[in-house]
Amino acid sequence: MSTIAVTGAASGIGAAVCQHLEAAGHTLIRVDLRNADVNADLSTAEGRQAAIAQTLEACNNRLDAVVACAGVGVTAPSIGLILGVNYFGVTEYLDGLEDALTAGCNGKAVIIGSVAGSHMVATPHPMAAAMLENDEAKALQMAEQSENPSAAYAASKYAVTVYGRRKSVEWGKRGLRLNIIAPGAVETPLHKASLDDARFGEAVKNFVAPMGRAGVPDEIADGVGFLLSDKSAFVNGSVLFIDGGMDAMVRTNTF
Ligand code: NAI
Repeated sequence: MSTIAVTGAASGIGAAVCQHLEAAGHTLIRVDLRNADVNADLSTAEGRQAAIAQTLEACNNRLDAVVACAGVGVTAPSIGLILGVNYFGVTEYLDGLEDALTAGCNGKAVIIGSVAGSHMVATPHPMAAAMLENDEAKALQMAEQSENPSAAYAASKYAVTVYGRRKSVEWGKRGLRLNIIAPGAVETPLHKASLDDARFGEAVKNFVAPMGRAGVPDEIADGVGFLLSDKSAFVNGSVLFIDGGMDAMVRTNTF
């Protein structure tokens, strides 16, 4: 059985992922702002370093997998926070655990992206370029100036997906695997907060997948289970859309 670190473990998709992995007999290191094994703020450089140090201590420098679920949505208290958690909170944490994953058994990672990230494939927002250059100060400044939480959210998910795909090429050569799951709307507190927000509620309500419903966290956790299992041994660098057909509807000719 494996030792697996899960960020965003206290709620929604991350909590479902933990439930599934624990039921399968794995040992978990739960990471979140509070109510976790590692309580840390992934939106700041200090918080991320603390999360890495505590995770390494908990796994004794040998980790089999990481599932990066922690994220904030368009209702986050600041636009910069969206980039701080959804991009830098994923990439810096994963980078810091690379050696431990190499020491583990067939190290693997899954990043929870979003179907929103693929809306930007044709014309990525300049904010995404700043994230991919790892220039956090510039990216955060652009985010705040944009006054557009939806663009920042989509840019953060686009950039974290590109990061993941780049990393998977490098990791594949070393026997590690990294994949991305792009969920559509999933019934969680994050989704509910967007639905309830006067600025975004109408658009979120109308963003309905061909299957006519939102997903549930268990459906994303099933995808994570597959991507961490030996059944996906040759799957690396993939973006698995679990979205009821939303991406196929929006980008029918692009894949
Ligand atoms: P959620 O709000 O239920 O859970 C997110 C978790 O991340 C919470 O436990 C929260 O405390 C944690 N978190 C937030 N900021 C943090 C920080 N600074 N440091 C450490 N932990 C932090 O949300 P949900 O829906 O489960 O989201 C999980 C992931 O799925 C996110 O990356 C989100 O962007 C993504 N996603 C969600 C969709 C949805 O419709 N629910 C759709 C597509 C992607």
